[in-house]
Amino acid sequence: MLRLAIPFLALAALVSAVFAQSSVWGQCGGIGWTGPTACTTGNVCQAYSQYYSQCIPSGQATSVSSAPVSSSPTTTASAPASTSTAKLHQLAKSQGKLYFGTATDNPELTDTAYDAILDDGMMFGQITPGNSMKWDATEPEQGVFSWTGADQIVNLAQQNGQILRGHNCVWYNQLPSWVSSGNFTAAQLTSIIQNHCSTLVGHYQGQIYSWDVVNEPFNDDGTWRQDVFYDTLGTSYVSIALKAARSADPNAKLYINEYNIEYAGPKATALLSLVQTLQSQSVPLDGIGFQCHFILGEVPTDLQTQLSTFAAQGVEVAITELDIRMTLPSTPALLQQQKTDYQNVIAACMGVEACVGMTIWDWTDKYSWVPSTFSGQGAACPWDENLVRKPAYDGIAIGLGN
Ligand code: G3I
Repeated sequence: MLRLAIPFLALAALVSAVFAQSSVWGQCGGIGWTGPTACTTGNVCQAYSQYYSQCIPSGQATSVSSAPVSSSPTTTASAPASTSTAKLHQLAKSQGKLYFGTATDNPELTDTAYDAILDDGMMFGQITPGNSMKWDATEPEQGVFSWTGADQIVNLAQQNGQILRGHNCVWYNQLPSWVSSGNFTAAQLTSIIQNHCSTLVGHYQGQIYSWDVVNEPFNDDGTWRQDVFYDTLGTSYVSIALKAARSADPNAKLYINEYNIEYAGPKATALLSLVQTLQSQSVPLDGIGFQCHFILGEVPTDLQTQLSTFAAQGVEVAITELDIRMTLPSTPALLQQQKTDYQNVIAACMGVEACVGMTIWDWTDKYSWVPSTFSGQGAACPWDENLVRKPAYDGIAIGLGN
């Protein structure tokens, strides 16, 4: 019996593999794949790499024989690729927005292939330094200012005709220990904030479109974040910083920048209330930054409503740090979802006149902050690790009206 059973089971498995069919978006081939290699009616099996083939609707089949095969285990398939020929900033401008831009960081600038895309002012009309304007970089010792990294990015943007967002003056994170552990009195810390903000903003006076003067002041439950600023000065640190920034550069737009305000909830409510309080006290405030660090498939459906709600207070709004992360490895199906997600975020901004622009938090997965912060997650940017455009790029272009 046993001698008969083994060939029978093997034959049954073979028959099942041959006659079973994968449904749309299911895997249908690739090295090591032992499942169905045929697709259900109306779909075809498309190879994206030697490791991955997928059933896709017949009408969407394309020639991908030259599609790059990622050598990275974090991305099993970089196809389907983008097909849009539009340039993102050019598109945003043509639709009445001020900019489409990206964050960048100094270490990346030695990558010439990266620079070639970053420097395209039609692709990115705006730049945010990802780290080099933060307190630890600009005033590492009390009263000792360092502009090397920030100046490099400001100069680069100016050479490319790209406008700048300054990021940031006051934030609980990336603070030098002399600030966070200084045990200063309220009067001393007031003076320290005033000196830092006015020196930083003043150094770039006339060169920065908007400043994230205060970054991430709230906890997700809407209470104030307890950091050295709040613990020493209460809520007054916000107006101290905003007033110092206004004096240093009267023409720069002054923002509060925050995350998890992209949907209705206690944090958005707390920030809205702060905006009203500051306005009632004639504290200068021009804009609210919506960071938009999203998880795949979880873009808030009320994002546009939230943008409008803040805009109704008379401030401008912007998408300031957009990326959409997924659990790795990425697959064509996940990349398709990401395309839809990016499109929805961009469309939300396009639907609100006071939403002046959109910034992605770096444009390539090669330099994204996500994998080092969220274990097992990544692929959050519109270009992959090989600097190849992903479907998300097309999602942005569609959201921008292309
Ligand atoms: O500068 C040191 C370097 O000397 C050291 O060798 C290296 C070793 O890890 O670390 C370097 O510092 C890193 C820094 O980036 C500069 O590269 C920090 O470890 C790292 O934690 C830091 O991450 C930054 C993060 O803010 C810090 O919270 C990310 O690059 C930056 O993209 C991210 O940006 C923030 C926004 O400012 C605010 N909103 C959220 C967003 C994402 O976290």
